[in-house]
Amino acid sequence: MGSLVNVEDFRRLAQARLPKMVFDYMEGGAEGESGLRHNRDVFEKVRFQPKRLTDTSKRSMEASLLGKRLRAPLLIAPTGINGILWPKGDIVLAKAAERFGIPFILSTASNSSIEEVADAAGGDLWFQLYIVHRKLAEMLIKRALAAGYSTLVLTVDVGVNGKRERDLKNNFGVPVRYTARTLIDGLMHPHWSFNFLRNGVPQFGNLASSAMNDPEIQAALMTRQMDASFSWDDLARLRELWPRKLLVKGLSRPDDAKRCQSMGIDGVILSNHGGRQLDSAIAPFQALPSTRSAVDIPVLIDSGIRRGSDVVKAVAMGASAVLLGRATLYGLAAKGPEGVDAVLEIFRDEIDRTLAQIGCSDVAQVDITYLWPQGSVVA
Ligand SMILES: Cc1cc2nc3c(=O)[nH]c(=O)nc-3n(C[C@H](O)[C@H](O)[C@H](O)COP(=O)(O)O)c2cc1C
Repeated sequence: MGSLVNVEDFRRLAQARLPKMVFDYMEGGAEGESGLRHNRDVFEKVRFQPKRLTDTSKRSMEASLLGKRLRAPLLIAPTGINGILWPKGDIVLAKAAERFGIPFILSTASNSSIEEVADAAGGDLWFQLYIVHRKLAEMLIKRALAAGYSTLVLTVDVGVNGKRERDLKNNFGVPVRYTARTLIDGLMHPHWSFNFLRNGVPQFGNLASSAMNDPEIQAALMTRQMDASFSWDDLARLRELWPRKLLVKGLSRPDDAKRCQSMGIDGVILSNHGGRQLDSAIAPFQALPSTRSAVDIPVLIDSGIRRGSDVVKAVAMGASAVLLGRATLYGLAAKGPEGVDAVLEIFRDEIDRTLAQIGCSDVAQVDITYLWPQGSVVA
């Protein structure tokens, strides 16, 4: 791993290893991808104002979240069809999270099922729910409860799929459509193709059970769209169905977060889906200060986090923890289990160095006074 020293190195290696249409699926944003760039810009605009002559000889990056200890303020974000990046990609990520002492969030659109992941990996497993059809959602909730998932994450920013122009141009879909172009793309990436052929075409692991023979659910799945009518009253009902911790992912506004808190939601995740949904949305980092002051529940964020210093900036601005989306996927696609471990290790190292260099020995003590400019820093 000598020449792979940062997340960008893993991104480049992933690009070399994957067929173009698979890399584009992972990497792409919506429309002109200004949101994707903006998510990075906001982190780069904020600088640190280090404190000096503080004892930083012993440092801690442990975080506390929803009554549990995390070895770092990180989680692995829910991402669909990880199996096309690496065989059994969901399980590879879940096991890496377990080794690293952080939660893993399994997507509704995973390739390995809720039960397969729970059987293969220990650690703190969370399940992310998309509402495609309410009956289907209730079935998935029951399965996640039975399989021991500690936390449910409801994603609310995909009422309609984002216009991902790379996927449209590549004619990308699941199952993969075989055209002359996809075959040539595959031949030019023999290592990936060999793995793909040896392990079989990944399926949607959670949607393959006999219960899916219900014609209404079948029809909803065929549309490949979420149920855009799901609203606050439905969230109240979901709160009743899931007795454990429940978080809402995809918020951008303090008033929505406040409403979640008033309904007994345990935490919120500010996210623009990594720039894959509304291209012109603000970056979650921009909504962090106002949301932090509006609620008392944990506020998590994601979108654009590629450096340990980004994590420390987010925590300084009030985040309880951050979710890694593409960063760990780059590790997965580049080198499988070793790659995911290496990316997590890069984050650990960079967080540790950042803490030492800003003069703060404990990530729990980092606050806005370490950042510059303060106030409307990310306007
Ligand atoms: C390839 C890919 C698939 C994703 N699939 C899902 C998903 O199934 N459910 C979900 O809630 N979010 C999904 N997301 C969004 C991530 O959970 C997360 O919000 C986003 O990746 C964070 O941005 P980042 O990639 O810049 O870190 C996906 C993101 C990517 C890149």
